Amino acid sequence: MKTRITELFGIEHPIIQGGMHYVGFAELAAAVSNAGGLGIITGLTQRTPELLAKEIARCREMTDKPFGVNLTFLPTVTSPDYPGYIRAIIDGGVKAVETAGNNPQKWLPALHEAGIKVIHKCTSVRHSLKAESIGCDAVSVDGFECGGHPGEDDVPNFILLPRAAEALKIPFVASGGMADGRSLVAALALGAEGMNMGTRFIATQEAPVHENVKKAIVAATELDTRLVMRPLRNTERVLRNDAVDRLIEKEKSLGAALTFNDIIEEVAGVYPKIMKEGAMDAGAWSCGMVAGLISDVPTVKELIDRTMREAETIINERLARFAAR
Ligand SMILES: Cc1cc2nc3c(=O)[nH]c(=O)nc-3n(C[C@H](O)[C@H](O)[C@H](O)COP(=O)(O)O)c2cc1C
Repeated sequence: MKTRITELFGIEHPIIQGGMHYVGFAELAAAVSNAGGLGIITGLTQRTPELLAKEIARCREMTDKPFGVNLTFLPTVTSPDYPGYIRAIIDGGVKAVETAGNNPQKWLPALHEAGIKVIHKCTSVRHSLKAESIGCDAVSVDGFECGGHPGEDDVPNFILLPRAAEALKIPFVASGGMADGRSLVAALALGAEGMNMGTRFIATQEAPVHENVKKAIVAATELDTRLVMRPLRNTERVLRNDAVDRLIEKEKSLGAALTFNDIIEEVAGVYPKIMKEGAMDAGAWSCGMVAGLISDVPTVKELIDRTMREAETIINERLARFAAR
């Protein structure tokens, strides 16, 4: 399947694996790229630019296909060493970067000069248009369904994607709630040129996370996620657990007086405990509503191959039937 996204990134299938904290290590990125998609290493999970450089080198040993790095621009006061991370990406010969969070404008000239294609993840049409105007090559349009940070507008993909298609000239992928061939065909129908998946890729053999995380995703239904941190305008969709229930209780009781310090125990530094140790109630961790559509733990190649097979069957058989006169 050829789209502007497969052409842009030099990949076989229009499927991207979104950057995920403590999930997007070289093993997963390489598996996705080897299966014909675009795998993404999560930059900030590597504590220093030197460690990111090593992770990029490790990924390169596992695949000769294109892969990317996610750089999330956080609204924190003490900023990570972004210039160092950018240098590691450029020196590592990476050809794709997924940016997210704050405006990536400042970093675009250096990345473009190195021949790197930039896809910015946005949760609104307004931010997508901004990304286009500053020179991003593509956007990943992340609907309200998504795991992680859906923004504050709460527009689901059935509205957001066709709105993005009306507004944008650069290509975009659908992100949030994507799981299989049906998702891909729907995304294409709504104007996207591919899809980005997060939660679905965690429940794969190669995802280097504790088995408990994969089991929790398979066990979860579409009713099991919650939105947290809305009072801080840093909304995150997470899987419900004891820590999340506690967090929501605090949000209710403290109301507008809530500060980050009140919930620090539930959100700060919890990812290694969950993803590495499998301590599933250690804190709030991102998970999409799409968990309701996930019922197995295939290899990445099985997942991508069956997604493409299913998409082609839907287009050639089910949809073609409706078009026949
Ligand atoms: C556990 C987890 C961690 C994530 N961490 C990040 C991150 O560090 N940076 C980022 O830009 N997006 C992050 N995301 C968002 C994903 O890249 C992707 O946009 C999202 O998962 C898409 O929605 P889906 O889960 O419904 O597929 C994370 C998502 C999950 C599930």
